[in-house]
Amino acid sequence: VLPDSRVMKLIGIGAGHPEQITLQAIHALARVDVLFLTDKGEDSADLLAARKAVCAQYMQSRPHRTVVIQDPARDRAAGDYTGAVRAWHDARADVYEQLIEQHLGAGECGALLVWGDPAIYDSALRLLQSVLARGRVSFDYEIIPGISSIQALAARHRISLHDIGQSIHITTGRRLSDADFDAHSSVVVLLDGRCAFAALTRPDLIIYWGAYLGTSDELLIAGALSDVSEQILAARADARRRKGWILDIYLLRRHGGP
Ligand SMILES: C[S@@+](CC[C@H](N)C(=O)[O-])C[C@H]1O[C@@H](n2cnc3c(N)ncnc32)[C@H](O)[C@@H]1O
Repeated sequence: VLPDSRVMKLIGIGAGHPEQITLQAIHALARVDVLFLTDKGEDSADLLAARKAVCAQYMQSRPHRTVVIQDPARDRAAGDYTGAVRAWHDARADVYEQLIEQHLGAGECGALLVWGDPAIYDSALRLLQSVLARGRVSFDYEIIPGISSIQALAARHRISLHDIGQSIHITTGRRLSDADFDAHSSVVVLLDGRCAFAALTRPDLIIYWGAYLGTSDELLIAGALSDVSEQILAARADARRRKGWILDIYLLRRHGGP
């Protein structure tokens, strides 16, 4: 890194538990000049507030500027999912490009905070890379890994993610119907706004479900999928009503594995 070049750090800040942040992340936060905080609208006001709390705790030692990024919304009604996501990423790249150019000075360090780990179902890295690929702004970038919601789920349920010597399949609710439980006895599902687990009819599945992991609102349910599916649907709907948003994740495991 040249002394006058700009650096963007993608900092994983854990899935929600205030102590699940690494020393590397804490040290990186202490060296930030410009913090870019994303605001994705009303229902994530709590998440923005939680990010600000992390910063307040670890960024006192050095004066820094904060830039709130109004993240463009995705067109959720669009029929072409991949096309809509691509258009949304372009619109976001425009915004990030402009703000980095405008607010990050030569030799300065900027940061984007990412829930969990930046390498798992998070678009910030691709976004920074597409901003760089456009060639209008230049900066170096670095990634600070974090504790993912996948690890937080396993820890809270006191389970291993996989059966002995077996593989794990990590996927989204949208793709759960493609999962092959005979090939992978354990399947972890993130980003499931539509409760895809409720459509599974295999009688041999166990589910370990967790919502708002690491926070004071945390919910945990585990059991045979056929027994607890309704209970999870009800707990999820109730929590969503109360808080206005939900973050949940689960692991499905075929019983009778080795
Ligand atoms: C955009 S992905 C980000 C994943 C994140 N990078 C990670 O490593 O955990 C968002 C999804 O992560 C899961 N998630 C993140 N934090 C969570 C938490 N505290 N409790 C439960 N699920 C969480 C949910 O499945 C949510 O839909």
